[in-house]
Amino acid sequence: MSTKSGGLIRPVAIAGTGKYLPEKVLTNEDLQRMVDTSDEWITERTGIKRRRIAAEHEATSDLAVRAALDALENAGVAAADLDLIIVATVTPDMAFPATACFVQKAIGAPKATCFDVSAACAGFLYGMELARQFIASGAAQKALVIGADKLSGIIDWTDRNTCVLFGDGAGAAVLQPATEDSSEILSAYSGSNGNLDEILNVPGGGSRLPLTAENLGAKLNTMKMAGREVYRHAVQTMMSAAREAIDRAGLTPDDISCFIPHQANLRIIETIAQKLQVSMDRFFVNLTEYGNTSAAAVAIALDEAQRSGRVKRGDHILMVVFGGGLTWASSVVRW
Ligand code: COA
Repeated sequence: MSTKSGGLIRPVAIAGTGKYLPEKVLTNEDLQRMVDTSDEWITERTGIKRRRIAAEHEATSDLAVRAALDALENAGVAAADLDLIIVATVTPDMAFPATACFVQKAIGAPKATCFDVSAACAGFLYGMELARQFIASGAAQKALVIGADKLSGIIDWTDRNTCVLFGDGAGAAVLQPATEDSSEILSAYSGSNGNLDEILNVPGGGSRLPLTAENLGAKLNTMKMAGREVYRHAVQTMMSAAREAIDRAGLTPDDISCFIPHQANLRIIETIAQKLQVSMDRFFVNLTEYGNTSAAAVAIALDEAQRSGRVKRGDHILMVVFGGGLTWASSVVRW
């Protein structure tokens, strides 16, 4: 159920990162006026205070393009030089073409092979590992990986169990072969458990339950979640994925200066910190501001961690994610 990777030919670096958050802010106070909830409940149970909501005219690729341009500039890489564009998303612009193709068109990357990855909130690290393998094998030189989701379009805004948790956004990274003074991806790990498909999904809108008037009436096009169960599995799988990636990098938790976990719930992060016996000040948290932005979350956090100086050259960082599927993934990078 899980992949092992290692022994690749050529080391790979993260050359730059970027992000985009839509302008509109939805606060806990706003949600109080929409469903039977309170700022106190949301803050206590999740740590979330605000989230960003994309404009109606903004599709997922619009968010992705803004993050992509930011990452390309940060990396000093031209779009025309990209060999590969991967977009991790569960809210593609349309069934096909892939959202990555729309990004290619918008940024001008004619050489790039473009496709999407569907691994929910774990998608960015799935995409990063794919890009790493393309580059490590010599099949690609420069790759752009984007995590982008417009979850606001698949949320039932009358369901207080889910609508308080999520937001929209995009994060991106440019990968290329490592050099002596660059960063280097030291390890990667991923896994899935399709037996747990029902605890987090959007049942309608695909070939199983097409969007008929009846299915739309039953809101089958929106996210369904068994919160407590998801919580339990999130803690378990993120814990073991964190340990696995650290192990594969030949390190211990003490060697990691910055832990960048999926930004789903502050209590999940605090539990992981406690179990790893790592103090919370070594964990990067921005869910207070953005909620859970699905595939974008860890990518946005990575961008903010490195631009704010929280992650410095030579530091070891751990990214660890978890999502519907179930899916999970982790990676250690020497920055
Ligand atoms: N406002 C007020 N009350 C709410 C509420 C809200 N927004 N959402 C749920 N409640 C209520 C429930 O109805 C329940 O009421 P009841 O006891 O009368 O039935 C009560 O709060 C407790 O619900 P419970 O589900 O036990 O709360 P919890 O402490 O587990 O927190 C989550 C709920 C959803 C915040 C938490 O389970 C969670 O974060 N799960 C993981 C979700 C996740 O990360 N999903 C994405 C993964 S990528």
